[in-house]
Amino acid sequence: MRNRQILYVHRPEERLSVDDFELVEGAVGQPGPGQVLCRTILLSVDPANRAWMQGRTYRDQLAEGDVMAGFTLSEVVADNGTNIPVGSVVACAAGWQEYAVLHAREVSVVPVLGPLTHHVSALGITGLAAYFGLLRVGGVKGGETVLVSAAAGATGSVAGQIARLKGCRVVGIAGSDRKCRLLLDELGFDAAVDHRSAGFADDLRRACPDGVDVYFDNVGGATLDLALRLLKQHGRVVCCGAVSQYDTGDPASVEGVRGVPGLVVTKRLRLEGFIVSDFAGDWPVAVRDLAGWVASGDITVLEEVVEGLETAPQALVGLLAGDNIGKRMVRVGPDPV
Ligand SMILES: NC(=O)c1ccc[n+]([C@@H]2O[C@H](COP(=O)([O-])OP(=O)(O)OC[C@H]3O[C@@H](n4cnc5c(N)ncnc54)[C@H](OP(=O)(O)O)[C@@H]3O)[C@@H](O)[C@H]2O)c1
Repeated sequence: MRNRQILYVHRPEERLSVDDFELVEGAVGQPGPGQVLCRTILLSVDPANRAWMQGRTYRDQLAEGDVMAGFTLSEVVADNGTNIPVGSVVACAAGWQEYAVLHAREVSVVPVLGPLTHHVSALGITGLAAYFGLLRVGGVKGGETVLVSAAAGATGSVAGQIARLKGCRVVGIAGSDRKCRLLLDELGFDAAVDHRSAGFADDLRRACPDGVDVYFDNVGGATLDLALRLLKQHGRVVCCGAVSQYDTGDPASVEGVRGVPGLVVTKRLRLEGFIVSDFAGDWPVAVRDLAGWVASGDITVLEEVVEGLETAPQALVGLLAGDNIGKRMVRVGPDPV
């Protein structure tokens, strides 16, 4: 049996390119004691994949020559002395390859509640980041104004819809007129602003005439700077990610916030970062809530599934340029029968 793998072979000096990866064929490993062999079903394409190349994140920096790292939904096809049944669907970080040998503690069995793709999107890491970021870190309350960036993306689209469900006024920032229309027409946002339009700053001010209570920040950079100025006294910033600073060889060169901490002090703002794994103990409750909202139609799931492991490099390059709507993932193999 062969194992197609995509290696990360070249650290990009500026923007990521498909030439920074190489498709190879390796052998399929055998699980040792306490290990399982996993077959990749779906591979999550995440902006963080690019940040891991820069270092300074919650995981080790990627090294050239490594199998490209990535989160997956996989099927256990063999085990060696674990209590994980063969045939289980597991969430893990198997990387960009068809098969991976992992220790039992590196996989978590997924109680399947719907289509497997939903366990990568609304019920997966991005949906959970939206849930915990908005409800636990942001502590949103009905009647508040919530501003969300990368709002047509995987995390932002769910965060905005949860805010709407909680009775908030929701303003989205997205990178095209088409995405803004989708937020208004299909996801029930109250206003949407295109960050690539020349009049972005004025448009954003007009969309938030009474200021902002909670800013769910997926992008950092110049948009965070604008948002800080729109926040009300005691406003909160949910620091979820900083995608504007990922696809560069020099994150420090990207335009960022000015006048901090002065602005933060004067307005008594609270900026709080989080990693979704901080809330791992409460994931089952969150997944049940999210699945309920999806089933009732309160949350519309936006997903894009691209076919074949070999498409992963272009899928990531395109995501960083904003050509995705909702959660992008790669189908590497079929669902278990
Ligand atoms: N803290 C956590 O545990 C956690 C977990 C998951 C994700 N995250 C973070 O959440 C954020 C969103 O991730 P995601 O997986 O949901 O990706 P996503 O939003 O589906 O895709 C990324 C989006 O970012 C936007 N973007 C790209 N470059 C930008 C720029 N320079 N300025 C503004 N927007 C830009 C693009 O949309 P536009 O067309 O709208 O520009 C693109 O579609 C990322 O920062 C990620 O690191 C954090």
